[in-house]
Amino acid sequence: MELRAVCVLLWTSCVLRCGVAHQDFFTSIGQMTDLLFTEKDLVTSLKDYIKAEESKLEQVKQWAEKLDSLTLTATQDPEGFLGHPVNAFKLMKRLNTEWGDLENLVLKDMSQRFISNLTILRQNFPNKDDETGAAKALLRLQDTYKLDTHSISTGNLPGVDLGKLPYKSTMTVEDCFELGKVAYSESDYHHTELWMAQALRQLDEGESTEVDEAAVLDYLSYSVYQQGDLETALDYTRRLLLIDPGHQRANGNLKYFEYQLAKQREAEEAEKGERTRDGVARGKREVESDAADDDFQPEKRKYERLCRGEGLKMTPRRQSRLFCRYFDNNRHPRYMIGPVKQEDEWDRPHIVRFHDIVTDGEIAKVKQLAKPRLRRATVHNPETGELTTAHYRVSKSAWLVENEHPVVDRINQRIEDLTGLEVSTAEELQVANYGVGGQYEPHYDFGRKDEPDAFKELGTGNRIATWLLYMSDVAAGGATVFTEVGAAVRPMKGTAVFWYNLFPSGEGDYSTRHAACPVLVGNKWVSNKWIHERGQEFRRRCGLDELDRNSPVLPHLLHHLL
Ligand code: OGA
Ligand code: FE2
Repeated sequence: MELRAVCVLLWTSCVLRCGVAHQDFFTSIGQMTDLLFTEKDLVTSLKDYIKAEESKLEQVKQWAEKLDSLTLTATQDPEGFLGHPVNAFKLMKRLNTEWGDLENLVLKDMSQRFISNLTILRQNFPNKDDETGAAKALLRLQDTYKLDTHSISTGNLPGVDLGKLPYKSTMTVEDCFELGKVAYSESDYHHTELWMAQALRQLDEGESTEVDEAAVLDYLSYSVYQQGDLETALDYTRRLLLIDPGHQRANGNLKYFEYQLAKQREAEEAEKGERTRDGVARGKREVESDAADDDFQPEKRKYERLCRGEGLKMTPRRQSRLFCRYFDNNRHPRYMIGPVKQEDEWDRPHIVRFHDIVTDGEIAKVKQLAKPRLRRATVHNPETGELTTAHYRVSKSAWLVENEHPVVDRINQRIEDLTGLEVSTAEELQVANYGVGGQYEPHYDFGRKDEPDAFKELGTGNRIATWLLYMSDVAAGGATVFTEVGAAVRPMKGTAVFWYNLFPSGEGDYSTRHAACPVLVGNKWVSNKWIHERGQEFRRRCGLDELDRNSPVLPHLLHHLL
């Protein structure tokens, strides 16, 4: 391709794709896909640069070869050679003009176009926060799904169907080292140790790399020291000193660790002498890691177990009371001929799943509308009341408003028809996209008593119910889990789950606490409709409650209104 053409192409693609300012790429795959195309354009530009550089070098080579044979002949008999008048003229011409031309050619900068393309496109590249964010997502997945560093590094994600993961990717020593450094910069010494140890293993296996073994050992010894394991810290320090006997910090640490270890042993001996009960000599490291994990352990552990598909709390007897049915919402005119399939996912709280609620075409349209507007999802900071980003909610979302496109209205109408609830008072349709590692830790959708202002500005009361439409399958991870009751709901493209957040009295139902598990493989798209209290009483007054009271969706509502 002509260089000029590539340049124009890059400009155009930049203008088309780089309209939005840079923001948290790593939180959603939707916008990351654009980066792949940008990178492809850059490769085209780079290849054109290589071609130009090769053609320049070819010209220089030809000149050198021509002159090589000429000067060889000429210097064998200089006088005889110059006795030919044309040779004399040509020598003058070469020295006066042609060597100058060659000089210009050699000095010609062929890289300008490529460099200018790179400079333009780089403005929209991911930044340090994106790299850190993506690294932290990997560490989160490692914990939630109990993956070991070796499996991640070799690209063998356990429990993941290889058919759903066609793009295997492995990690180099350098990748492991970088991940360890991110953990280190977060003072996360547990993961620093795991990833530096993996880097060291790969180094020991003979993988060639620029990474310095001494640097790996330096991080390793420090991270295990931070976790209280002095003996291992000493081992790593000694190994470091074998490679680099003059390493200043390691020499200092060696003495310090030896001193600390001697002190620790002394203290242990003294303690043993006093009390000989079991467990006293337990390493400091063990004690520390227990303490560090304590904070928010019970729920976090429940959440992670449910995400792994463990710890579901449903006896077969209870399960036998969950049903599937064809549902027409009491002969609703739009569903009488074609009722929808409805399935009980859970009993208390009652969670139902509607099947085949939207078509693939409708999903594609909703995604297309949302994509340019996706922004990092925020949460309310309870202290300042402001919206901020948080590590416990990692995704991007956009709001699709009523009347902006027929597909949005069609979906809103369907929600109203199938739930029997008024949607005009609901929030707009929220579309969310979770990239790999994207998650939303346990939360309630409704506003609690201690936050009476949560939905005040909307003026429509609390969130009576949640409608959650899955707009994609997820290859691995990404389930919606209910941590209080031990339920897990898997995303299934085109299906929607629905539950009430409030009891009939209007009290919040705390058993609805739920979370979106980190996506392990794939890309998760959902859309939410949060239905509010206001407007539901109107339906009843106007005779719209002549609905099937046995319907699994309605009893809550009816009690609420009576
Ligand atoms: C939410 C939510 C669950 C999911 O956005 O409030 O709980 O699976 N989402 O995406
Ligand atoms: Fe939620």
